[in-house]
Amino acid sequence: MDLASKTTAELDVLAGELQQDYDRLRGRNIGIDMTRGKPAPEQLDLSKGLLETVTLDDCFGEDGTDYRNYGIIDGIPEAKRLFAEYMEVTPGEIIVGGSASLTMMYDTLASAVLFGMPGGESPWKDQKSAKFLCPVPGYDRHFTICEKLGLEMINIDMDNDGPDMDAVEAAVKDDPSVKGMWCVPKYSNPSGATYTDAVVDRLAAMPVAAGDFRVIWDNAYAAHHLGSGPAKLKNLLQACKDAGNPDRVLMFGSTSKISLAGAGVAMLAASKTNIDDALEKMFVSTIGPDKINQLRHVRFFGDVAGIAVHMDKLAAILAPKFAVVDEILEHRLGGKGIATWTKPEGGYFVSVDVMDGCATEVVRLAGAAGVKVVPAGGTFPYGKDPRDRNIRLAPSMPSIDENRDALEVFCTCVELACADKLRAEK
Ligand SMILES: Cc1ncc(COP(=O)(O)O)c(C=O)c1O
Repeated sequence: MDLASKTTAELDVLAGELQQDYDRLRGRNIGIDMTRGKPAPEQLDLSKGLLETVTLDDCFGEDGTDYRNYGIIDGIPEAKRLFAEYMEVTPGEIIVGGSASLTMMYDTLASAVLFGMPGGESPWKDQKSAKFLCPVPGYDRHFTICEKLGLEMINIDMDNDGPDMDAVEAAVKDDPSVKGMWCVPKYSNPSGATYTDAVVDRLAAMPVAAGDFRVIWDNAYAAHHLGSGPAKLKNLLQACKDAGNPDRVLMFGSTSKISLAGAGVAMLAASKTNIDDALEKMFVSTIGPDKINQLRHVRFFGDVAGIAVHMDKLAAILAPKFAVVDEILEHRLGGKGIATWTKPEGGYFVSVDVMDGCATEVVRLAGAAGVKVVPAGGTFPYGKDPRDRNIRLAPSMPSIDENRDALEVFCTCVELACADKLRAEK
């Protein structure tokens, strides 16, 4: 029954029962961390063989190059071929780098602020202001980069098919200070949405006032399905080329949630102009990436089909955890009119919207009862969720039983916080 249709007396009774439940659950002293989308140990175990693919006697490239030494700033050719196919570009359109795509994204924007981007007139720091469009809810670390670099963030609502494109087009059309936009186009963090072809085409073709505008296409979950195979996502670089805007997009990816989250391989794919610009900037900060790790990945996966087989095994571990989360959310909160949540087909998160004004309290209650989630507001620029309603759950790291325990606590907290709000409003 919808909680809002209960009488004050009924709500008082309910809140009393929920408080008792909450106190009992709190007394269990559990400690479950659902803050970050970390792979669980059994996922990492699937990459055990990775560390055995390269030995000191056998760390040479296909042309005999000794990968123990400096150099090859854009990545070893074997890795460029593999990950170019993964990112659906040519080997000339990719840089295979270190272990973290977040570092590549930060470096890209920091150098745009300091030195500018092709197509722009001056470094972003020398312009009156520089703004970024941020589909919300979104990835907290993207927003932290903007905040740190002084890029003013503008919220754009996310829908099931991608960002609100009317709002995006209106924002970029006449304002040259809008320099870029964050996108997690497949299995978005946190909503799980995948951009439709129509959204991709509009991003590629929309008129943009700033010549140095960039879509930061963080395709972190390109292959990360939960059992039904990877969703289809139109290639934005190709769409941009077709629309006559080849330099509009910078596409990032990594194997953090394919192989090892602390020792994977990260990549940037883009037009030749953007790749040349990135290499020129990178040249100052590195003499070359960890080529041994790149070689490990090439030998371990072999080809893109090898990655796909591996992703199926990961899906088999992750899917039951997401199923438990959905089952308990449905069982405990379904039909009560106090929360909605996503049912992702890939990625690492479930995005929950509780009643307006309740997320902070839910997160506080859950934390006090031993279930940690990202602070309320964390999925919005500046940590400010205007409706204080979005909460991101990350089911990957806890076991199935821990997810069950965590969700029992979480749902009790949602009901309690919402019942209290409704009582206060009556
Ligand atoms: C959307 C998104 N991009 C990037 C990352 C981090 O990637 P990496 O480990 O390659 O730095 C994450 C990690 O959660 C993520 O969710």
